[in-house]
Amino acid sequence: MTQAPDRAATPPGVSTLAIVGAGSVGATLAYAALIRGVARRVVLYDVNRAKVEAEALDLSHGMAFMPMGAVEGSDDIGICAGADMVVVTAGAKQQPGQTRIELADRTINLMRTLVPQLVEVAPDAIYMMVTNPVDVVTYASLKISGLPPRQMFGSGTVLDTSRLRYLLSEHSRIAVRNVHAYIVGEHGDSEFPLWSAANIGGVPLREFVAATGVLSPGDLAEIANEVKNSAYRIIDGKGATNHAIGLAGVRIIQSVLRSERAILPVSSLLEDYLGISDVCLSVPSIVDRDGVGERLEFNFNESELASLRASADEIRGVARQFGF
Ligand code: 2OP
Repeated sequence: MTQAPDRAATPPGVSTLAIVGAGSVGATLAYAALIRGVARRVVLYDVNRAKVEAEALDLSHGMAFMPMGAVEGSDDIGICAGADMVVVTAGAKQQPGQTRIELADRTINLMRTLVPQLVEVAPDAIYMMVTNPVDVVTYASLKISGLPPRQMFGSGTVLDTSRLRYLLSEHSRIAVRNVHAYIVGEHGDSEFPLWSAANIGGVPLREFVAATGVLSPGDLAEIANEVKNSAYRIIDGKGATNHAIGLAGVRIIQSVLRSERAILPVSSLLEDYLGISDVCLSVPSIVDRDGVGERLEFNFNESELASLRASADEIRGVARQFGF
């Protein structure tokens, strides 16, 4: 028998995903990432040593039922060293009735210390912020890190978009994978659906509605409202959201680590996007191994453009309050 290699050594060509925060979102992201096999090595970092070690142990006991992988947990930030991608979930927990924006004070303060430490150990990683309020946190973290804007983005409205597609699918009784529609703007109360670009199986939504009679304008307004309020409902019922954000996050991670160039509404620094600059917001963007690339310029109608500007003003205003 040959001698067993050092178990901690990362074989060449193996991608490492570092997840910061072993709370319900971080642990679910790790679970989904391992099940989907998006990274060969998943490391979890959290200041709570007992919790992070227990999550890693629990996940490692499922390894027999997953694609080839490895998971480790530590309260030493050095575990993130050399990661290909770092996903930040650490931060204040949203309480029932609380908005994401109300978490800004605590989470931005956390980023002031956490982000420089992460960048020191993993300067070349692609960073995805998940912590709320994600648009403000992404903007502040980008400024704190000094990284090129391409290298750091937020999970944005990828989750809200999947909520929208699910609801449209339920109402129209068409498979969710054939429903194409985006929620854009803030991941929060000023978000909105980009109805003008929505289509079902390639048929513009407006034409689909006219032809089939399903999905009245009232239904569409109700769906948009339900998407916006989904997180409040879930937090009221179970204290946090975790499953869908875990899957949405892994969808984005996969596009980065496999350099898919998938179009996803992540939150990134906009510079002259339809005249909007200097704010992190979600618009459909190309995501690949270098991070976030080109943003797609759709023909927003007038009211959509006004909503996007209002969302930008809202996020910029909060960032300014915290000196960014
Ligand atoms: C969500 O939308 C709370 O931002 C989290 O599920």
